[in-house]
Amino acid sequence: MTSQTPEQAQQNQEKGAGFETRAIHAGYEPDPTTGAVIPPIFATSTYKQDGVGGLRGGYEYSRSANPTRTALEANIASLEQGERGFAFSSGLAAEHTLLKALCAPGDHVVIPDDAYGGTYRLFAQVEAPWGLAYTPAAVSDVDAVRAAIRPGQTKIVWVETPTNPLLNIGDIEALAAVAHDAGALLVVDNTFASPYLQQPLVLGADVVVHSTTKFCGGHSDVVGGALIVRDLDVADSVAFHQNSIGAVAGPFDAWLTLRGLRTLGVRMDRHCENAERVVEFLAAHPAVSQVLYPGLEEHPGHAVASRQMKRYGAIVSFRVTGGEQHALDTCGRTEVFTLAESLGGIESLIEHPGRMTHASVAGTELEVPGDLIRLSVGIETAEDLLADLDQALG
Ligand SMILES: Cc1ncc(COP(=O)(O)O)c(C=O)c1O
Repeated sequence: MTSQTPEQAQQNQEKGAGFETRAIHAGYEPDPTTGAVIPPIFATSTYKQDGVGGLRGGYEYSRSANPTRTALEANIASLEQGERGFAFSSGLAAEHTLLKALCAPGDHVVIPDDAYGGTYRLFAQVEAPWGLAYTPAAVSDVDAVRAAIRPGQTKIVWVETPTNPLLNIGDIEALAAVAHDAGALLVVDNTFASPYLQQPLVLGADVVVHSTTKFCGGHSDVVGGALIVRDLDVADSVAFHQNSIGAVAGPFDAWLTLRGLRTLGVRMDRHCENAERVVEFLAAHPAVSQVLYPGLEEHPGHAVASRQMKRYGAIVSFRVTGGEQHALDTCGRTEVFTLAESLGGIESLIEHPGRMTHASVAGTELEVPGDLIRLSVGIETAEDLLADLDQALG
């Protein structure tokens, strides 16, 4: 295998190859010696040098670079239409590395007032004690985000869209303008949409964050993260911090994630079809008081989502009529939906955000309602999913 350089991946993109073609081909060429069409897992920590400093293809030590990881990084950069991609051991490792690359103690970041609990915990309990101030603001309210910016001090406007778990929508183009007016960068966590449904860099964002654990990997068998950047100065700083902090994706993990990315398009289409069926079913169910899904016309972010997303994704949140206990009981009764944290795999998952993924925001301004349930709709037979929800809702 030869991994493509970022320039080659870029050329691939410029040749106008479609998303699914790039998902399958960008990032590597079949091995010149054997013709192997699938990249090998380079399980090596170090590389023979041809004389001191005589590196083959720039490979020196696998924290700095590994060919399996390079293939993944070039592939995901192509899918997000960025200049360079970087793969990490988890989404949070990617986030932490990015904050170190772009911020210094004394700086300030605007964060979503509805975000993955672990992201909030990172800001509140790890970055804030280091000296990075933050202000939560609603990603769906451009004026609130503008008002939260501290001129001269804010380095990043950080958004998720759709948000986890309330599925709020931020207008990426408008938020990029607000951030750039203030001399800040716009960082978009694109985990829920995946690059198949939404490409924030094309809409003006500066950095895309992924928990590749989710739709990118797609099979609930690997934890990983990625950053994709559009600016080469930002890329240099991220590359330096990726190597210096060292929270990189190992070659086995990189290989699994790359395998997942190859089928992202077909998986996402089926995920979205099933999610639409589930939404339709829940919206008509008497035990459901509200369905949160940007594909619904009454969703306040529907118009923006329709502009910036190809479809509306596979995460569906809803509230039940019987309060928190009803939500907990429903989560405990499903048989096809597995009660588990995480999302984005081929199997359907159900969870109670208040007690599970978002337990770390209890008692903060990011606390989520107790009667809320979050679904990650998988690619099973739709009728089985509907029947399971029906019996579980009671
Ligand atoms: C939107 C979002 N961002 C980031 C993360 C963190 O990623 P990881 O669990 O891979 O560290 C998650 C995890 O659930 C997430 O849902």
